[in-house]
Amino acid sequence: MLFDFLQKKGSGVELAELIVELGRGVEEISRSIIRADEKKLGTINPSGEEQIAMDVEANDILVRYVKTNPYVASYGSEELDELQKGDDPKGIFSVFFDPLDGSSLFDVNFSVGTIVGIYKGQDVIGRTPRDQVAALYALYGPRTTMVVSMGQGVQEFLLTKEGWEPQVEIATVEDGKKYFAPGNLRATQEREDYLNLVIQYMKEQYTLRYSGGMVPDVNHILKKGSGVFLYPGMPSAPQGKLRLLYECGPMAYLVEQAGGASSDGKQSILDVKISDYHQRTPVFLGSLSEVKRATAALQN
Ligand code: F6P
Repeated sequence: MLFDFLQKKGSGVELAELIVELGRGVEEISRSIIRADEKKLGTINPSGEEQIAMDVEANDILVRYVKTNPYVASYGSEELDELQKGDDPKGIFSVFFDPLDGSSLFDVNFSVGTIVGIYKGQDVIGRTPRDQVAALYALYGPRTTMVVSMGQGVQEFLLTKEGWEPQVEIATVEDGKKYFAPGNLRATQEREDYLNLVIQYMKEQYTLRYSGGMVPDVNHILKKGSGVFLYPGMPSAPQGKLRLLYECGPMAYLVEQAGGASSDGKQSILDVKISDYHQRTPVFLGSLSEVKRATAALQN
């Protein structure tokens, strides 16, 4: 089902097979999550965040699918220090993933996700997320869905008993309902401009849609077709928290493919130069005018 759909959308066989394989990984993670406890491991990931058992399990599952895939030259994960080599020396893609985004919400049973960006070639240092040839995220909510783009629009799939079933194509992200997802609200204590922007949203009666998980929060924008997600930096953490390669790059690719915009405050996230596998960036995602507004308001 998934393979045929991707093929019809014009992907090459290699990319379609890789996405199908990632879909199998996501399916396995989805099955594990339902029964997983909230155990913390007492270990930290390369970004200094505490790992739960499911972080490691989700990572191990994806690594198993990606490492052995004949088209994968290399892969990187938010849970791994270094870039890793795929098993097949003839691999043509590099794959970067956050296996379990939002895992700090796992104990309270909020929705979590998996985020993946795919590039051609062995490495991405010195390049930008605009070089992605595909990106996807999976959302483990009451249902498991996967949202995929290969550079020609954005498509949602639903995990059913029969496999990944295509849903309606994600419509254009544009100005419509006023939704806002203000991440890192703590920054309002260090930045008056952010405080003012949030107050302005409230005065204009924007509806708050914020779960604390980037995947459900961005999925809300894509599915409703409007809104804005913000995770700005602040003087004590100028680059914010979210990672360019594993989180912001793939999400920006999907939002821009759906007709929306992305920014790090100066330029599209897709134009930010990748200099480190675990580099962080401020991020604004949403409709064109919402991202423009946030960028203008948060210039300093
Ligand atoms: O990077 C993980 C993540 O949970 C994102 O999904 C989310 O947007 C963000 O962190 C929330 O961060 P904070 O811990 O600052 O609320």
